[in-house]
Amino acid sequence: MFSPDTINKFASTPTPFYYYDLELLKKTLDALKKESDKYGYIVHYAMKANANDEILSAIQKSGLGADCVSGNEVKKASDEKFEKIFFAGVGKSDEEINVALDRNITCFNCESLQEIEVIDELAKKKNKIASIAFRINPNVNANTHKYITTGLEENKFGINLWELEEVVKRTQQLKNIKIIGIHFHIGSQITDLSAFKTLCLRVNEIQSWFVSHHIPLEIINVGGGLGVDYHEPEKNSIPNFESFFLLFKNFLEILPNQKVHFEIGRAIVAQCGNLISKVLYIKKGVSTNFIILDAGMTELIRPALYQSYHKIENISPTANPKNDVQNQKYDVVGPICESSDCFGKSVMLPETKRGDLVAIRTTGAYGEVMASQYNLRDKVKAVY
Ligand code: LLP
Repeated sequence: MFSPDTINKFASTPTPFYYYDLELLKKTLDALKKESDKYGYIVHYAMKANANDEILSAIQKSGLGADCVSGNEVKKASDEKFEKIFFAGVGKSDEEINVALDRNITCFNCESLQEIEVIDELAKKKNKIASIAFRINPNVNANTHKYITTGLEENKFGINLWELEEVVKRTQQLKNIKIIGIHFHIGSQITDLSAFKTLCLRVNEIQSWFVSHHIPLEIINVGGGLGVDYHEPEKNSIPNFESFFLLFKNFLEILPNQKVHFEIGRAIVAQCGNLISKVLYIKKGVSTNFIILDAGMTELIRPALYQSYHKIENISPTANPKNDVQNQKYDVVGPICESSDCFGKSVMLPETKRGDLVAIRTTGAYGEVMASQYNLRDKVKAVY
C-alpha cells in the first residue's frame, strides 16, 4: 500500500489530512470508461462524493459529465467545464434554479410537480426552455443502510408511481418545459447487484407506459450507488465496473436513439482517498485501550453517522517492522466531545504508541466533503 517514501513524506506533513492517490483515481477512471464505452453509456460524476479541485479536474479531463445537487455544485461544474450537467435534488431554491438556467445545464432531474411548475415560471422569465427528467421513485429496496436508501415510497425522493400520470399530463401543458427523460436512484453503497436488476425491470415497465402515451424520452438515467469494498481496499481497489454495466446491458431495455446515463460518485473516488492521522494518546479503558487520534468525526463523519466500517492501519514503520503482528485490541477514537466520535471498536493492531501514524482507508468518497468545523476545528487539508 503506502511506499516507505510516501510514509516518510507523511511524517513531515502536519496531520490530520486526506491523502489522495491520483494514480489510482486515473486507473479507476480508465476502467470505468473502458466498461461504460462498450455499451455507449454516459457516466456523470456525482460531485457530492468529493468536490476537491484536483479530483474534479482529473475527472473532468476523463470526459465524464457532472451530477450536481446544489447551485454551487452547478457553478463549480460549469466553471470546471464539465460538458453535460444534471441538477438533481428534492429542494432546489429559486436562486439555484436560476443559476442552472443561466449556465444552460443539460437537464433538471425533477422530484415534484410543484418544482416543475417553479422551473417553468423561472424559465419563462428568462425566455428559456428548461429540459427536465422526472425523478421517479421506483419503490425498489437497495438493501443498504437506511440513511442511504432513497428509492422506497417512504423516502422523500422522487415522484411516486401512483402520481406519475397526473404529473406528466400537467407537465405537458407547461410551455417552458421540455420533457427529455426519466431518472432513478435507489441508494448508495449497494453491493448486492440484484437490486439493480430489480431496478432495470421496473424501469422497463415504466418505459412502456411512456411509449404507450407517445412520450419520447432521450435519457434513461439510472443513477448511481455502486458500492465499494471497505474491508479489502487493497484487493479490490477498483470496483467491478464490468459486471455492473453488463447487468444493465442484460436487463435494461432501451429504444433506438435513447442514451443510458449513470450518476456514479463513491465507486470513482472512495478508494483513492485515505485519512491520515497521528496518535495523540493511548488511554487505558476497562475492557479495551483507546487510541486517541488527532482526526475525529469533524474530518470523517461516516462512522458516527452511518456506523460505517473503514479499515484502520497503523502505518508507522516503527510500530511493527514486519507488519504482521496485530495482537492488540483498541477502540480508535477522535478528540471531539461526542461519544459517537469513534472510528472503530475492538480493532486489532500492532502495539501502538503516541506519535504513530494511522491511516483510515477508503475515505475518498463522502469524507472531505462532509467535514465540518465543529469545535472550531481547522479545515481539513489534502495532500496528493
Ligand atoms: N445520484 C443521486 C440522485 C444521489 O442521491 C446520489 C447519492 C448519487 C447519484 C451518487 O451515489 P453513489 O454512486 O455515490 O453511491 N453520505 C453518504 C452517501 C450519500 C449518498 C447520497 N446520494 C455516505 O457517506 O455513505
